[in-house]
Amino acid sequence: MGREDAGRARLSPIFATERAWIRPVCGADAERLRAYHLANRAHLAPWEPERPEGFHDPEAWRARAALQAENIRQGSGYHFLAGLHGSGEILALCAFSNVARGAFLACHLGYSIDGAHQGRGLMSEILSALIPHVFQDCGLHRIMAAHLPENERSARLLARLGFEREGHARAYLKIAGRWRDHVLTARIAPDPPV
Ligand SMILES: CC(C)(COP(=O)(O)OP(=O)(O)OC[C@H]1O[C@@H](n2cnc3c(N)ncnc32)[C@H](O)[C@@H]1OP(=O)(O)O)[C@@H](O)C(=O)NCCC(=O)NCCS
Repeated sequence: MGREDAGRARLSPIFATERAWIRPVCGADAERLRAYHLANRAHLAPWEPERPEGFHDPEAWRARAALQAENIRQGSGYHFLAGLHGSGEILALCAFSNVARGAFLACHLGYSIDGAHQGRGLMSEILSALIPHVFQDCGLHRIMAAHLPENERSARLLARLGFEREGHARAYLKIAGRWRDHVLTARIAPDPPV
């Protein structure tokens, strides 16, 4: 199967790394996702868009979880959650979204980890398992990730994962209520075997 049409049916149900399990989001994850975001509100606020009134209503999370599951089914976005072995709670979220196919075969990567577990190499461990899967089984060629210039943890993480700096975009995303410049990075798939 070529990269152009791969990825719609080959998503792995679950992965295990040394410390974590990882699986695609499903519709039944709504309450789990809501609990993660509410518990990490202060930790995530400086790095995310402002959340409007009602964003954390249970029905809003039900709609979001259903949409993420539908994106996965259609191959237009791959949303994963991870937890520590022995725990059912969400430890981290990773989303490969805005999938473009045709000649581009690219997506945007977003991620976050529970504030209590930062700085232990866990996100690096999780993304090291997911990225080869996204290249091989979801049929993508380029994963793009952008970070605020001052987000040193994110910059270090991406560098360790082999993302290369591609540029600096002015007023790129509206984060915490302000249009903010971002550093643009990307990782390219290894050449397929000939
Ligand atoms: C960015 C984030 C996902 C990183 O997760 P993590 O599990 O802490 O990442 P890791 O431990 O695997 O790697 C973090 C890197 O930052 C380094 N680091 C840890 N604490 C740091 C600090 N206070 N300042 C700078 N770098 C730091 C680590 O040493 C590691 O770099 P190394 O691999 O070169 O040693 C996490 O901090 C987070 O959820 N932040 C809030 C949301 C966010 O910023 N999302 C990304 C938006 S672009």
